[in-house]
This record gives sequence, structure tokens and C-alpha cells, in this order.
Amino acid sequence: MKILGICGSLQRTSGNLMLLNHADSCTPPDVEFVLFDGIRELPHFNPDIDREGTPESVTRWRRALTDSDAVLIASPEYGFSLPGVLKNGIDWVIGSGELEGKVVAITAAVPAPERGRRGLQALRDTLSAVRATIVGGEPIAKGPEFGRYVAELVRSLVAEAANRWMSDIVIRPALQSERSSLEALQWRASLANSGDRDSLLTNPDAIALPVGQIADGHVLVAQRDGVMIGFAAVLPRPDGDAELDALFVEPRLWKRGVGRLLVEHCADVARGRASRILHVIGNPHAERFYLACAFKATGAVETRFGVGLAMQRGL
Ligand SMILES: Cc1cc2nc3c(=O)[nH]c(=O)nc-3n(C[C@H](O)[C@H](O)[C@H](O)COP(=O)(O)O)c2cc1C
Repeated sequence: MKILGICGSLQRTSGNLMLLNHADSCTPPDVEFVLFDGIRELPHFNPDIDREGTPESVTRWRRALTDSDAVLIASPEYGFSLPGVLKNGIDWVIGSGELEGKVVAITAAVPAPERGRRGLQALRDTLSAVRATIVGGEPIAKGPEFGRYVAELVRSLVAEAANRWMSDIVIRPALQSERSSLEALQWRASLANSGDRDSLLTNPDAIALPVGQIADGHVLVAQRDGVMIGFAAVLPRPDGDAELDALFVEPRLWKRGVGRLLVEHCADVARGRASRILHVIGNPHAERFYLACAFKATGAVETRFGVGLAMQRGL
């Protein structure tokens, strides 16, 4: 996940810039915080300029917003409103859409809690033009609690952005035409796992998704923004139970909840077939993941690639 930090103040000794630097220092390790310093370079908004050829500074601004999952704006109040430079930056993306529906945390570093509120209200009003989801919205007063409030705001922003990210995932049956893309994804996921890497390289034929599993609708794909990000296969067993036969997620998106979402969908499919138990032969390195998905270990089984964990989950 990437958070874009934007400061509404241009001055070198800005308290709002200090707030953003603090936010950077308390951002979780798996979240990237990038400060965008380019709003000072944007020309005054004028649709004519856009029509005649978008300036590089505007392209950079739009790309920075597109590349981020969430935004944190810390801004002073000037003249009972938001600073002109920040309003100008937002004006440049109202028509082009890069802020549309984005998760945006807003705050102001202030000398006292009653300050900065009109500026934040004006910022909120402007952001409503792009239907941004606002997080926070309170000024943060300099003082002993400053760091704690900034950390709290970052936590809320990351949680909201993670929810938004997950809600944009679509789970659907795989298509026959996607077989090679699914196998390529399986390769990437398996090679990224140091425990599987060697045995896979010596047994490359292990990566083969049976055509019949796709044809019978047993393979579910997780897709986001039109891109495949994971898949799972849930097979009926002769005893009426169900088997989670494959579960792979794009390695750069591990630990975001995609695997768990796929497991839940597989459980729903199995329930729909009146199965009472979902089985999996889990890779030992994934034991904690399966336990967190409500599976229980029932024993160990010998597989072609070594010992696997037999696990079950009631449905
Ligand atoms: C021209 C000007 C107008 C200001 N207007 C307001 C205002 O309307 N309300 C307010 O609370 N503070 C106002 N301030 C104070 C700033 O919000 C304050 O200096 C803020 O800390 C600046 O943010 P920075 O430290 O990030 O640069 C104003 C400051 C200046 C220089």
C-alpha cells in the first residue's frame, strides 16, 4: 500500500511538513509513505493549458495520485480557508479524476486545538467535489500528545484504505482462456516461497492446472482493477466434503487479506454444494495462515514434495 503525503504549506519550517514527516516515521513497515512536494510547481489552473498540452508538473501530480492507495493532507488555514496552492492542486484533478473517490485523511498542525478548523472545513468541502472518503478531519495541536494523534490518524487511514482496497476485489470463476495466466501466477507465487522453490525447480511439472477444474467451475479468480491477483480451486470429494486444492496470491500482494478472501469464497461454494467439511493439505510454512482461516490441523501426510499438513474446517 502506498500513502501520498501532501503539505498545504510551502514554507521550509512548516509545522504541517513536520506532521507529515512524523506520519512517515509511524507508518507500518509494509506501507510506503511518499511525500509529494510538487504542488508548488503547478501553474494556476486553467483548462486552456490542459487542452494545449498538459505541463509536466501536472502530469507528475496526477500520476502521484493515481499511484497511491490513499492520501494524507496536512494543511494550514489561511484567511479562514485552505491555502490557494492546495486548492489549485485539487482544481487540476477535479476534471481528470485522479482524486475521485479516494480515501483522504486531512488534518492541520496548529498551535491550539481551536485553530485551523475553518481551513479543514473548506478543504472538506472542496474534496466533496471529488467524492473523497474523508478520514480524520480534526486539527492536531502541537504539544505532548501530538505524536500520538498523528499515529492514530495514520492507523485510521491505513485501515480505511485497506478496507477500500479489499472492497474493490471481485471473485469470479476462471475462464478456460486464462489457464496459462493462472499457471504463471502459480509459478510466481511458488517461486517467491523459499520453502517451495527448490522442490518446484526440480519438479516443474507440478505447476499444471487441470483443464477440467476450470471447465467445471471449480477455480475462482480474485481480480482487482481488471488484473488477476490470485486464485483458488475448491473441488468436490467423493465423500461429499470439499477440498481446497490450490490457493495462490500474487507475491507483491501477500499479507493483504486476498488469500483469506479466497478461502471464504471457497467455503461459500462448498457450503452451496452441501459439503460439511473443507479439507486442505497445507504447506507447513502456511500453517499460521490456515489456522487464522479457522482450519484445524488433523495430522501430517506424505506428499510428492515432502510432508504436508492435513487440515479441516467445518462449514
Ligand atoms: C497570511 C496568513 C493568513 C493566515 N490565516 C489564518 C487563519 O485564517 N486562521 C488560522 O487559524 N491561522 C491563520 N494563519 C496562521 C497559519 O495557519 C499558521 O501560521 C500555520 O501554522 C502555518 O502552517 P505551517 O507551519 O505548516 O506553514 C495565517 C497565516 C498567514 C501567514
